[in-house]
Amino acid sequence: MQVRFLLNGETVEVDAPPTRTLLDWLREERGLTGTKEGCNEGDCGACTVMVTDEAGARALNACILFLPQVHGRAVRTVEGVSGPEGALHPVQQAMIDHHGSQCGFCTPGFVVSMAVGHMQGRRDHDDVVAGNLCRCTGYAPIVRAAEAAAKAKVPAWMSDEVPASETVSYAPETSDELAAWYQAHPDGTLIAGATDVGLWVTKGLRELPEVAFLNRCRDLQGIDDEGATLRIGAGVTMAALLPVLVRHHPSYAELVRRYGSEQVRQAATIGGNIANGSPIGDNPPALIALGATLHLRHGSGRRDVKIEDFFLDYGKQDRRPGEFVEAVTISKKATALRCYKLSKRFDQDISAVCGCFNVEVDGEVVSSARIAFGGMAGIPKRAAAVEAALVGQPWAKETVETALARFSDDFQPMSDMRASAGYRLETARNMLVRYFHDMAGETVSVREVRA
Ligand SMILES: Cc1cc2nc3c(=O)[nH]c(=O)nc-3n(C[C@H](O)[C@H](O)[C@H](O)COP(=O)(O)OP(=O)(O)OC[C@H]3O[C@@H](n4cnc5c(N)ncnc54)[C@H](O)[C@@H]3O)c2cc1C
Ligand code: FES
Ligand code: FES
Repeated sequence: MQVRFLLNGETVEVDAPPTRTLLDWLREERGLTGTKEGCNEGDCGACTVMVTDEAGARALNACILFLPQVHGRAVRTVEGVSGPEGALHPVQQAMIDHHGSQCGFCTPGFVVSMAVGHMQGRRDHDDVVAGNLCRCTGYAPIVRAAEAAAKAKVPAWMSDEVPASETVSYAPETSDELAAWYQAHPDGTLIAGATDVGLWVTKGLRELPEVAFLNRCRDLQGIDDEGATLRIGAGVTMAALLPVLVRHHPSYAELVRRYGSEQVRQAATIGGNIANGSPIGDNPPALIALGATLHLRHGSGRRDVKIEDFFLDYGKQDRRPGEFVEAVTISKKATALRCYKLSKRFDQDISAVCGCFNVEVDGEVVSSARIAFGGMAGIPKRAAAVEAALVGQPWAKETVETALARFSDDFQPMSDMRASAGYRLETARNMLVRYFHDMAGETVSVREVRA
C-alpha cells in the first residue's frame, strides 16, 4: 500500500504491506531506534510517537499503529522532539534537571508523551504519562519534570503542517464509501483504532489480506446533540468522547478516563469497543445501563438494535458479513448512572469486573432498573434477576440485600488470570451495595482511605 506522511518534518513515501507497524518500519527501515520496543502490545508506552492531523497532535503507540493509519498525517519521533541543532525540548531539559531517567529505556517514550502533553497545555501529568511504564526511576521525578516544563514555550520546531494527501483505496473517506467496500469485501477486516487488531498481528501473527482503515471516515467521527439524546459516531475515540461524557455522564466519564492509557484512548474507538464483542470491554455495560441504541449499516440498508441484544454469545454478535457499526445513540441525561471499574491496577488495565447501574426511584419505590456487567459472563450482560428483585420495591437496604441473592441467577462467572469466579461474584454484589451508598451521597471512591 502506498503511504505518504511527514516524518520529523520530512515527507516520506512508503510502499508497505497493510499491517506493517510504524514501530518496525521506523526501527528497521529508517534506523530511528530512539522509539523503543518494550511489550509490542500497547501496554508500556516505550514506542510512543506524536501524530498530528487536522484535529491536532496526539500521543500514540507505534507498536500497534499500522503504516496506512498515518497516511496524510505528520509523525514526530523522539529524534524529532529535540531541535535541529540538537537543542533540547523543555521536557528533555526538565528530565535531566529532575533526574527523571535511570537506565533510560523508557525515557524516549516518556519524553514524547510529555512533549505532546506540554504542547496541549495539559496539567494532568499523571494521566498524560499513565501509559508509560518505568521500572527504575519511579514516577515522582518524572511528574516533577513535567510540572517544571509546563510553563516553557512550545519550541517552534514542534509545529507540524499536516500534509495534503490524496485519497487512497484502503482508507474510505466517507461511510458511503466504507459501506460499498465492505459489501464488496464481506470477509475483509475493518481497522479502526487497531488497539485490538494490532495485537492480532503483533501477538497472534495473523495475516490480514483484505483490510479497510476507518480513520479517514470523518462522518463517523462526530457526536451529534439531538436534544434529549447524543448520537456518537462509531469512529469517535475514547479521548474525543471523554469531554462530552464529563458534561453529561460524569461517572461514565471516570470509567473512560481509566480506559487503557492516553495513547490507547487516542486510538480506540467506541465502534471497535462494541463490535469486537469483548466480554470485558468497558463501554458496553455503560451503554446497556443507559439503554443505548446501536445503528448498524449494510450497503445502503440500515437497522437499529438495542445494544444489549447485539451481544448474542461469546464471540458472536448480531452482525452479518459486510455489516458495520455506524453509530450509537444514548440518552443525554441519566442522573442515577454510576459506573464502577475493578481492575488489578488503577490505570492502564482491563476490567476484571465492570458494573454499571442506573436505578430510578419514584418517591420511595424503585420505578426502573438497568444494571449491566462486564467480566461476569461470555458477553456484556444485563442483571435481569437482580433488576426484577429491585423494581417495585422500596429503595432500602433490605431490598438491596434481597437482590444480592439473585446475582447467582444472573451470572456464573469464570475464573481466569484477572479474577476467580468467586471473587467476581462477590465484588459484583459489593458493587450494588456500593451503588446504594453512593446514591445516598456517601463517599465511595476507591481512592479514599478513611480511618
Ligand atoms: C494497552 C491496551 C489497553 C486497553 N484497555 C482497555 C480498557 O481499559 N477497556 C476496554 O474496554 N478495552 C481496552 N482495550 C481494548 C481495546 O481498546 C478495545 O478492544 C478497543 O475498543 C478496540 O477499538 P479499536 O477502535 O482500536 O478497534 P480495532 O482494533 O480497530 O477493531 C476491533 C474489532 O472491531 C471491528 N471494528 C472496528 N470498528 C468497527 C465498526 N465501526 N463496525 C464494525 N466492526 C468494527 C474490527 O474489525 C475488529 O474486529 C485495551 C487495549 C490495549 C492494547
Ligand atoms: S512497545 Fe509497549 S506500548 Fe508499544
Ligand atoms: S529509567 Fe529505566 S525503565 Fe525507566
